[in-house]
Formats: sequence, structure tokens, C-alpha cells
Amino acid sequence: MNIGILTISDRGARGEYEDRSGPLIAQIMADKTPWPVTHQAIVPDELGTIAATLIQWCDAGVNLILTSGGTGFAPRDVTPEATKQVIERETPGIAEAMRAESLKITRHAMLSRAVAGIRGQTLIINLPGSPKAVRENLDVLLPVLPHALELITDSPNTESQHRSV
Ligand code: MTE
Repeated sequence: MNIGILTISDRGARGEYEDRSGPLIAQIMADKTPWPVTHQAIVPDELGTIAATLIQWCDAGVNLILTSGGTGFAPRDVTPEATKQVIERETPGIAEAMRAESLKITRHAMLSRAVAGIRGQTLIINLPGSPKAVRENLDVLLPVLPHALELITDSPNTESQHRSV
């Protein structure tokens, strides 16, 4: 299993502001999972660039791509649209769970249009942009990620474990 972290921010990509969310995701994943971060980048809020990067990382064999930012209502927030272009199967339960749990913390959670889905053997999940939101959403995701990734990569060990439960 390996991870890609894609920060989506016009100002971050121009170097006008320091990306804190990408490094935070990397830190949390290093602390809480055994999977290495093999791909990390900051791109502007451009649908074509986001989609092309996602496809390139899927083709490179990344198993989990976590995006951060661009899921809100601003005109340039197009991360969900780029993700929908790329995924083959939507996984709505992930976005539903992130919003449901986040709503217990802030009503602003309903302003995230984040989506998640599968392309080949890659799970792509949109996270909001702020470090606080990243932390809160990862808390929701982390417990299910091992089983989700094992299913996507069709790991024989887990399949038999799962059947025996
Ligand atoms: N979810 C959690 N858990 N905590 C938050 O603080 N912020 C919200 C929402 N989801 C937030 C959250 C806000 S203010 C917005 S505008 C949307 O995510 C979209 O954020 P984005 O445009 O940075 O992707």
C-alpha cells in the first residue's frame, strides 16, 4: 500500500502561502498507518491539472490518494468535479460519514462537496482544506482504511479473514 497527498490551492501552488494541510496529512498517516507517502504535490484549482495528476498517480500504482482543498462553494473550488471525472466507481459512504461526523463539530461541514471513489486499484478521497478539517476528517476515515484498501487491491489474506468473521 502506498499513499499520494495532493494539496489543491491556487495560492499554495503560487508559493504565496505555506501548505500546512499536505504535511499534516503526511504526518498523521506516518503516525497512524504503516503505508509510505510516495507522491506529494500542490496544484492550483484547475480541473484539468487536478484530474491529470490523479490519473498519473493512479497509473503509477498509488493505492490511496488523499486530496485537500477545493471542495467548497467558491467559483474555483473544482476538486469534486475533477475527482468525479477520474473515478470509475463512487464510494458515497465515505463522504457521507465524513460529513455526518463533521456536522457534530461544525455546521460548516455541510459546505464541503467532497466526494470519494475508486479508479482501478486506487481509492481517491477529497478532504477539505483547513488543517483542522483535515484532522477531523482523517479521524473518521482511519479506522476503515485498512479494510477498504484490502478490498480494492483484492488482498487474498484479508478476503479469507473477512469470510471467517
Ligand atoms: N469539516 C470539518 N470536520 N471541520 C471543518 O472545520 N470546514 C468546512 C467544511 N468541512 C470543516 C469541515 C468548511 S468551512 C468548508 S468551506 C468546507 O469544508 C470546504 O472546505 P474547502 O473549500 O477548504 O475544501
